[in-house]
Amino acid sequence: MDQLAHLYHDHISELNRRVADVCQRENIAGLIIHSGQYHRQFLDDMDYPFKVNPHFKAWLPLLDNPNSWLVVNGQDKPTLIYYRPEDFWHKVNDVPQTFWTEHFDIKLLTKADRVAELLPKQITDWAYIGEHLDVADVLGFSSRNPDAVLNYLHYHRADKTQYELECLRRANQIAVKGHLAAKQAFYNGASEFEIQQQYLSEIGQGENEVPYGNIIALNQNAAILHYTALEHQSPDSRYSFLIDAGANYHGYAADITRTYAFGKSRFYELIVAMDKLQLEIIDMMKPGVKYVDLHVETHVKLAQLLNEFGITTGSVESALDLGITKAIFPHGLGHMLGLQVHDMGGFAHDERGTHIAAPEEHPFLRCTRMLAANQVLTIEPGLYVIDSLLNKLSDAAKASINWQLIDELRPYGGIRIEDNVIVHHDRNENMTREQGLVD
Ligand code: GLY
Ligand code: MN
Ligand code: MN
Repeated sequence: MDQLAHLYHDHISELNRRVADVCQRENIAGLIIHSGQYHRQFLDDMDYPFKVNPHFKAWLPLLDNPNSWLVVNGQDKPTLIYYRPEDFWHKVNDVPQTFWTEHFDIKLLTKADRVAELLPKQITDWAYIGEHLDVADVLGFSSRNPDAVLNYLHYHRADKTQYELECLRRANQIAVKGHLAAKQAFYNGASEFEIQQQYLSEIGQGENEVPYGNIIALNQNAAILHYTALEHQSPDSRYSFLIDAGANYHGYAADITRTYAFGKSRFYELIVAMDKLQLEIIDMMKPGVKYVDLHVETHVKLAQLLNEFGITTGSVESALDLGITKAIFPHGLGHMLGLQVHDMGGFAHDERGTHIAAPEEHPFLRCTRMLAANQVLTIEPGLYVIDSLLNKLSDAAKASINWQLIDELRPYGGIRIEDNVIVHHDRNENMTREQGLVD
């Protein structure tokens, strides 16, 4: 914890610097950041799982305390208004006493609707940052989530502090342990549901704690891009396993995918080739490179790979021109990663929030930004047999596809390989592989 405490000190300094800068520019007294509130389920007396405002957890790893607030202006010591009700129905968190607490003036709030007593008096000079605009209204805020402030913060969020990089490494370390356990479970014959249980148990995080719903897909289910059903029954035949599963460390996310084949097959050879392709794309990452160019190059390499395996018979150019690679790899190469799995700021080209959209031919790409040191991105090329997309191809495209091979691969579903990478000035740090998930 010592190293993290040291890094955290600089992290808070940097956040204070950013807030001071944007508040001076926008002529506001400071930011009042709401952790959030529970959402009640329709016609029920139960709440959905609480998800903290990412702007709140940027400041401190406090993920499970609704009705709490941060008052920050970049000059004064930040204030944490910590909700601690008298409540015999629910668990009330202890007043925190840990590596981050010395950086805040902590005020206790026992009744959520009494927060005004602890907030600055001239509330109209401050900006509300949070989800509950009705609450902001009642409190008298005139400035709520101002675009200029959010654009600024989201743009700079891409530039991770050393503390954030360390949290992301640790999230990877945890997720890698889960992936190794899940792989073993697959080879031991477990069902999707059982693999999920073993993964969560290994990483010691519940379904509501991991940063996104895990994708645990056996056989043809691997072709469903957002497959989150979990079959309890083990399939009769076992061909393949795709797992896209993450972990959380202090509110920072890992987002890792691996694909495995049960036995040696052409599909296994394809996994090996996709692994090589993915590493080649990662090698191209460096400051000054446009993420869009990496995505486009992935399509070129994929077209070559399809040709080498005889899945397509025309030229590499025609596989690209006819849209075959887009039917086989229909999602983006990846995205920024951090407090959010799809971290904000992927399209922001300056701190004013100038948005550069994904190219028209690649609408699902989630990052158009130029790479720079201290950014963290996923690289996740894929190759799938998705009949609805293949069927939509032109006759010319269909004529250059070896359908016998497609039929052979269909029961395996698809392949995705996803690593989490830090771009440094002089090298890339593949956190996922360095934590031991080598293939
Ligand atoms: N697991 C979500 C993604 O890979 O983007
Ligand atoms: Mn993923
Ligand atoms: Mn991802």
